[in-house]
Amino acid sequence: MTLAQERTLASKVRADFPILHQQIHGKPLVYLDNAATSQKPKAALDALMHYYQNDNANVHRGVHTLSSRATDGYEGARDKVAAFVNAAKREEIVYTRNASEAINLVAYAWGSTLQAGDEIILSVMEHHSNLIPWQLLAKRTGVVLKFVELTETQEFDFEQYKSLLSDRTKLVSVVHVSNTLGCINPVKAIAAEAHRYGAKVLVDACQSLPHMPVDVQDLDCDWLVGSGHKMCAPTGIGFLYGKLDVLREMPPFLGGGEMIADVFLDHSTYADVPHKFEAGTPAIAEAIGLGAAVDYLTRVGMDKIHAYEQELTLYLYHQLGQIPEVVTYGPKPNADASNRAALASFTTGTVHPHDLSTILDQAGIAIRAGHHCTQPLHRYIKAQSTARASLYFYNTKEEVDVFIASLKEAIAFFGDIFG
Ligand SMILES: Cc1ncc(COP(=O)(O)O)c(C=O)c1O
Repeated sequence: MTLAQERTLASKVRADFPILHQQIHGKPLVYLDNAATSQKPKAALDALMHYYQNDNANVHRGVHTLSSRATDGYEGARDKVAAFVNAAKREEIVYTRNASEAINLVAYAWGSTLQAGDEIILSVMEHHSNLIPWQLLAKRTGVVLKFVELTETQEFDFEQYKSLLSDRTKLVSVVHVSNTLGCINPVKAIAAEAHRYGAKVLVDACQSLPHMPVDVQDLDCDWLVGSGHKMCAPTGIGFLYGKLDVLREMPPFLGGGEMIADVFLDHSTYADVPHKFEAGTPAIAEAIGLGAAVDYLTRVGMDKIHAYEQELTLYLYHQLGQIPEVVTYGPKPNADASNRAALASFTTGTVHPHDLSTILDQAGIAIRAGHHCTQPLHRYIKAQSTARASLYFYNTKEEVDVFIASLKEAIAFFGDIFG
């Protein structure tokens, strides 16, 4: 597909996102903060509203009509998520509040079976969500954390990774697409190596699920986590995929209603998965919204979204490459941008990322500034903070142009003051 054709994809879908059609400080909104959270299509918003206006009741507990409608909607969304990631069984999808909770679930439930001296391999590019739960586990149990570093091109160092693996390795937990570097990690090969040592593999797919087809059976990961709000769904809903036998072996995480089979005063038995991990009244409307978002993304086509974003990546990097002051982090895109995501973390020398974000906001442009919840990575790449423009399939080449023009203006302005 050419960019001209793909612009048609963005222009086709933009009408589906009501929030995009507004002015910020008198300028059309250019939303380039999609790695933090995506915007929501009307289909997902309508699903939320429809649920509350027509079907609202608690799930699994009632025999009345509203309760069975709510249960059907909630469980139907689980089928959709399972199909979206190609899970072998619907029971392999556990709803959580977000990806952070999903990782904590594994760290607490499965992690409680680990012993002092067992090793967990992470990478230096992990989001804090895939670091702190393991640090807490290390404090509780004495497990040892090991870290994969970066190659010269700021990608996952596969050779060093292999040198860290041993019979002591119990888990490898890595990000699929880095939210700061944008690199796409070879998680299928990472999983294959880990499994040779009998280690389990968790994939943080927060930044891949919204942008490219993800197939858990092909990756052969033991767990995979995602956040709904980054993939067109409401906040407050995410999920944990786990292989059925792996989930079944895990003790419960949170206790309460819904997750039980029989309860006595002094002990209880637990429901089968996935309900064993879904204590209390869940985020019913949000799960239904996630189902609608997944339907929407599937209708647009994950292949199409990915191909379009690859073209946008090439364009974004080409334009950024024209500005001498700009330093980008993570690998440069290869010929078809198949090595990275449509986001750019960068610094400009003179303009502090926070100042840049504030100035760009005046032009209606939303970008992020800071450490993007990857403080250790920022230390590793020796950047105190970076600015980040992250794109989605509703962004256009024209929006990239608006961003680049404002970026150039800001650099020139600060250059005049400090230059
Ligand atoms: C790579 C990655 N992992 C995990 C998370 C955490 O997601 P949440 O805050 O929705 O739990 C994020 C969010 O920015 C992320 O980008």
